[in-house]
Amino acid sequence: MARDTVTIIDNATGRRIELEVRRGTMGPPAMDISRLYRDFGFLTYDPGFQSTASCSSAITYIDGDKGILLYRGYPIEQLAEQSTFLEVAYLMLYGRLPNAEELDRFSRTIAKHTMIKESLKSFYQGFYHDAHPMASMVGVVGSLSAFYHDSTDIHDPASRELAALRLVAKMPTIAAGCYKYSIGEPFMYPRNDLSYCGNLLHMMFSVPTEDYVVDPVAEKALDMIFILHADHEQNASTATVRLAGSSGANPFACISSGITALWGPAHGGANEAVLKMLEEIGDASNIPKYIARAKDKNDPFRLMGFGHRVYKNYDPRAKIIRRMCHQVLEKFGDANDPLFELAMRLEEIALQDEYFIERKLYPNVDFYSGIIYKALGIPVNMFTVMFAIARTVGWVAQWMEMIAEPDQRIGRPRQIYTGHAQRDYVPLDQR
Ligand code: SDX
Repeated sequence: MARDTVTIIDNATGRRIELEVRRGTMGPPAMDISRLYRDFGFLTYDPGFQSTASCSSAITYIDGDKGILLYRGYPIEQLAEQSTFLEVAYLMLYGRLPNAEELDRFSRTIAKHTMIKESLKSFYQGFYHDAHPMASMVGVVGSLSAFYHDSTDIHDPASRELAALRLVAKMPTIAAGCYKYSIGEPFMYPRNDLSYCGNLLHMMFSVPTEDYVVDPVAEKALDMIFILHADHEQNASTATVRLAGSSGANPFACISSGITALWGPAHGGANEAVLKMLEEIGDASNIPKYIARAKDKNDPFRLMGFGHRVYKNYDPRAKIIRRMCHQVLEKFGDANDPLFELAMRLEEIALQDEYFIERKLYPNVDFYSGIIYKALGIPVNMFTVMFAIARTVGWVAQWMEMIAEPDQRIGRPRQIYTGHAQRDYVPLDQR
């Protein structure tokens, strides 16, 4: 039987090395280069990790050419239609769908961990009210490591699970706190009788002076958006969490590093950037000007919400969110919301343009999500915070998977050095 290997030949010397091929359940094969430097003296160079598998994982599968996204094997379209965010969280963390009793117990456990230490509320006081909520999230989530450091043994599965449950449970409370602090309103305590997303809406939008009733359409829309954002293989923020966690760092601090990476406009910050872009474009008559800018290499402007490192087809999540837009806008916004009309027009024009077709630039998950968030009354600067709440499930699931790896090692990439060759120090009076 043919060996499942590949051979690399150094044409300068004729030397060759045979490398094992690793194959997953689905997706492209990978050549195992872990001994390439030791046995062949070469590094590999892949600065954006376009062709690099940094790990093996059983959590999420993406086929970028076919526009496929599976969580633990289940298609995102089915989960978005039939599941709930907490059920997806269970699936992510434990690898299978729960039965009714398991889901009920999991939901009650999450509810029990939604409160934050009362003293943590004073932490927000250190920020100006106009601090970007993502800045507050980085700080407040990172500070959880001060409350749960000695009690978190990452080598104990039960301790890891508790840290994961605490993070999933507390993110909405912390996020709502960032919002309330930014508008100068009192924090609202979580309520154990509400759903995960119902609780978030309550903590963000209710006030002590009157009753607040969670709108079921808003609750369902948010729950579905969170399902779509829960995990996405080794994206920049998940890879950050894995790298931070590989040193054995406190998991709460690792999640804070994930929030940091997510904030960038090239990643999770794109949903906020899309709204700002649509508002800047203003009218469909300006679309050609902005598309020209997006194509101009001398102009840093990018069409936010378009393109993806992996999807070279329509992002399946964007399709689902686009459909949901109509329902939400009919209920909360203006079914003819000019921003939504503009977004659809922009999409239509861009997808007919050779530049976008040639580069397979399609709308991604961030292109439409902001329009829904805005219709739900969520301020633009909280859009990426919403993304962070949902992605915490993926981050903690991937962190748990990594830490549990029997051969888990610290991640430590190499480099191609392009600096000075060795040279001697020149004393100050001789320079
Ligand atoms: C998310 O990784 C994930 O899975 C991320 C995510 C998740 O769930 O975790 O899916 C969430 O982050 C979605 C992406 C959100 N970001 C944006 O919408 C920002 C706009 N998009 C671009 O910045 C860009 O498309 C990226 C960052 C998403 C992807 O970057 P790549 O893979 O490095 O793409 P590239 O720079 O290699 O682009 C290839 C070509 C280039 O042109 P050429 O040099 O070949 O001539 O396409 C061009 C780029 O200039 N291009 C764009 C463009 N995106 C790529 N041109 C105009 N507008 C764009 N949006």
